[in-house]
Amino acid sequence: MDKRPIGIFDSGVGGLTVVKQIIKALPHENIIYFGDTARVPYGTKSKKTVTKFSKQIVRFLLTKNVKAVIIACNTASSNSLQELRQTFDIPIFGVIVPGVEEALRSTKNKKVGIIGTSSTIRAYETLLAEADSSIEVYAKPCPLFVSLVEEGWTENIVAKLTAQNYLQELVEKGIDSLVLGCTHYPLLKRCIGETVGSSIKLVDPAKSTATMVKSFLAEHKLLQQGENISERYFYISDDTDTFSNMCKKALKKEYIPEVIDIESY
Ligand code: DGL
Repeated sequence: MDKRPIGIFDSGVGGLTVVKQIIKALPHENIIYFGDTARVPYGTKSKKTVTKFSKQIVRFLLTKNVKAVIIACNTASSNSLQELRQTFDIPIFGVIVPGVEEALRSTKNKKVGIIGTSSTIRAYETLLAEADSSIEVYAKPCPLFVSLVEEGWTENIVAKLTAQNYLQELVEKGIDSLVLGCTHYPLLKRCIGETVGSSIKLVDPAKSTATMVKSFLAEHKLLQQGENISERYFYISDDTDTFSNMCKKALKKEYIPEVIDIESY
């Protein structure tokens, strides 16, 4: 039994979609979440910068005595997972490998679409090709989706038109599965689903990430056991109106985030 919290981070609100699945799979675990709302988006930044930010965040999470860290951001997972694992002596999980495994399970016609930031897309392409060279991968970076979600514009006409613009070409390729390779995108699930149609399965890596973390914690006797009321704390690097709203939308509960100076870590 290990009461220490799990640390989870993202460039902003997107990682809340992973928190949701962690809460479902591990309802008794305490959680510390950090959303880097002052420096979002990460997708337009270099590997060096994303890794520097990610290290600061892990240092912050360690001050909260976390027992494991989940990088609930595909961009930080693809750029920084390896270096974070080399730097910190704590279990660290990314979301890309679970996403690849889920895509392999999902596709029947072996035509898979990937949407995410540019670095994420490259990571998925490489791993999918390694796993099954007969899979055809059609990738499309969709950077504007992140800004739409951070703005809380997940259902309006701008979101709809943006989705049509980005996704039409993937639909025309005949994909049967579309990987939501950015943790912000499940917050646009309805809009994306309506755009691509119900015959294309939307693959959200969050659920398999939660399953992977659960097995690891169980195997290493790190689970929080019992019926305790779990504690969940949310931190951000800049005050935004949308964070609490997105918490309510993603987690169906109101949380008041605390703003911290992440540059000092
Ligand atoms: N949620 C991040 C991801 O999964 C968003 C990317 C960004 O900040 O640009 O990649």
